[in-house]
Amino acid sequence: MAEYVISAEALERNARVLRETGQVGGAHMLVALKAYAGTAGMCCLKEYADGSCASGLYEAKLAAQHLGGHLSVYSPAYREEELEQLLEIAHHIDFNSISQWVRFAEVCLSHPRAQKGEVLFGLRVNPCYSTGHTPLYDPCAPRSRLGVTPEQLAQAAEHSLLRGISGLHIHTLCEQGAQDLIDTFRAFERTCGSLLAAPDIRYLNLGGGHWITRPEYDREALVRLLREVREHYKVEVYLEPGEAWCLRTGVLRTRVLDVFESLGYRHAIMDVSVSAHTPDVLEMPYRPDVFLVERSPIKAGEDGEKEPSVRLPGESYLLGGGAGEKEYTYRLGAPTCLAGDVLGDYSFSRPLEAGDVLVLDDMTHYTIVKTTHFNGVPHPDIVMLRSDGSLECVRRFSYEDYADRQG
Ligand SMILES: Cc1ncc(COP(=O)(O)O)c(C=O)c1O
Repeated sequence: MAEYVISAEALERNARVLRETGQVGGAHMLVALKAYAGTAGMCCLKEYADGSCASGLYEAKLAAQHLGGHLSVYSPAYREEELEQLLEIAHHIDFNSISQWVRFAEVCLSHPRAQKGEVLFGLRVNPCYSTGHTPLYDPCAPRSRLGVTPEQLAQAAEHSLLRGISGLHIHTLCEQGAQDLIDTFRAFERTCGSLLAAPDIRYLNLGGGHWITRPEYDREALVRLLREVREHYKVEVYLEPGEAWCLRTGVLRTRVLDVFESLGYRHAIMDVSVSAHTPDVLEMPYRPDVFLVERSPIKAGEDGEKEPSVRLPGESYLLGGGAGEKEYTYRLGAPTCLAGDVLGDYSFSRPLEAGDVLVLDDMTHYTIVKTTHFNGVPHPDIVMLRSDGSLECVRRFSYEDYADRQG
């Protein structure tokens, strides 16, 4: 059976970095549940995070139950009944358009929690300044639906539509460094700086997409920006990364079901679907490192090249190379009907056999939250590797899970 294995220790390693960065910069560090919402992992993050960021009611409820602390919610559009429930539990509710804010302002501002100052309302701004490389992940791409433009914001202010707005929210990055955030903030400041400085504005949410836990990330530059924003504009600053909490914390372990040749290609069929169980490989696109598990020690010189994010005791790993780099190349594919349900071409220093275990690296964020039961391929289990080395299966999926989802 395939399984996602998530390391509690690795989650805490990232969490310590994020907590320290937030504390030194004087900013609130939230966990974005859209990247990872596993309750077993959230328990590991709880003591380090200042709270969470939710995309709607379901994430908000899960976050309130398992993470606690501050709860920020932003959605491109709220349903009326959803908003009523969010008003009971959220601390910030950020709106995507002036029209949604105008429609719901009365309901929001008259709510008892709003009157006591327990929930504040904000607007997401599209600073119209792109630093991203992939249009699919660029909220500032032309014709974006994500956020109010600086012109719309200025017009809304002129028409006194911003009464009750206490916060601004900019989310523009995806897997990016501190300089891109600084450049984006400067662009935002040029068009929206005077609004940010207005006494009614009490918070600025700088969204997610910050690769803070990568070794090359310039945390000092981020901290300087956070302090500057807080001191100059007198606002509380929030960051809501998702991926940064999860980087190098989990793997997907899959078994090889079959190996054969067709039309001059060697194929290996895994017991997972790329489309269903590692969807970002097709969507991003993202090419994970793949390791072949060896149960006996391997020849000197073959290991040590690179390690999977999560190692299990007694195992050694052979790193898969690109096509033709090592002696035996395979197209790693899924047991589904979709012709393109393929992880990619990988080469290994020994031939693959049915029963071999492959480890697909860095598979916590934007993976488990996106899985499906496409083709009825059994869903991988979710297993936590605890700090004492023990493995705990926190969720096993069954035929009933597949059948129930189909309605
Ligand atoms: C509004 C918002 N906040 C936070 C995030 C989290 O981003 P990441 O996981 O890249 O840090 C996203 C991701 O799309 C987002 O849209």
